[in-house]
Amino acid sequence: MKELKNIQILVATEEHLKYVDAVNDAIDIASKERGTGIARRTYEYIADKMLAGKAIIALENGDTFAGFCYVETWGAKSFVANSGLIVVKDYRGIGLATEIKRKAFMLSRQVYPNAKIFGLTTGLAVMKINHELGYRPVTFSELTDDEDFWKGCQSCVNYDILERTNKSKCLCTGMLYDPAWEQEKKVEEKKKNGWAIKGTLLDIIKKLKRNKKETLPKEATILTFLFKKKIQRT
Ligand SMILES: CC(C)(COP(=O)(O)OP(=O)(O)OC[C@H]1O[C@@H](n2cnc3c(N)ncnc32)[C@H](O)[C@@H]1OP(=O)(O)O)[C@@H](O)C(=O)NCCC(=O)NCCS
Repeated sequence: MKELKNIQILVATEEHLKYVDAVNDAIDIASKERGTGIARRTYEYIADKMLAGKAIIALENGDTFAGFCYVETWGAKSFVANSGLIVVKDYRGIGLATEIKRKAFMLSRQVYPNAKIFGLTTGLAVMKINHELGYRPVTFSELTDDEDFWKGCQSCVNYDILERTNKSKCLCTGMLYDPAWEQEKKVEEKKKNGWAIKGTLLDIIKKLKRNKKETLPKEATILTFLFKKKIQRT
């Protein structure tokens, strides 16, 4: 039984070029298994990704190839996709794809902090992983309109559906992570915390008033002052 703790998940470099064929072979095998035509990439394409620091590779005990994924940009780098995800059969079901995707996601956020991250998939495993990373399902209208990205679907057996619908829908689910959502979340949290502090201070003031038979003690005056200041600031 394979164990995640024996597998290193790394940003690939020049020293991993010797695994390019293994990556492509694994993609070929999976493509035949699934029957949906995951496209074999050229040697140069995968090698370039490794040399550019835009690929993630998983190696068992530092040398046996176990999984892969790479980062690519679309629409003048406004969109990023983590593509070519593959886990060798023997290493499936132990959470390896989750870890590879997590690393690719972090790399994408680091290199392209303002880009939207997206993916297309029919697979439940990938949907679950994406959901955990904060992706949301969206219609294709929310994804990149970069023609080159959609050309990548031409090798899929369902391409005729995509063509018929003018790229508006197909069998894949589109999933998107928008960094702007993080900002919105922060603003919401700030608002919530602000109100929590106001609520707490107000409660203390009220309590002090009740305890001192409606006469306002020094502590309450200070708290009222602080409370008003907080309101002015938010
Ligand atoms: C899809 C694939 C990458 C998953 O790899 P994996 O390492 O087995 O995935 P994980 O172990 O990280 O599992 C992630 C989640 O998906 C679930 N899962 C894994 N394989 C699944 C499957 N075939 N069907 C349904 N759910 C699956 C796991 O239970 C886990 O869910 P949990 O978080 O609720 O426990 C792997 O099967 C593969 O390489 N397939 C062929 C290539 C492919 O389909 N690539 C994706 C292209 S979009």
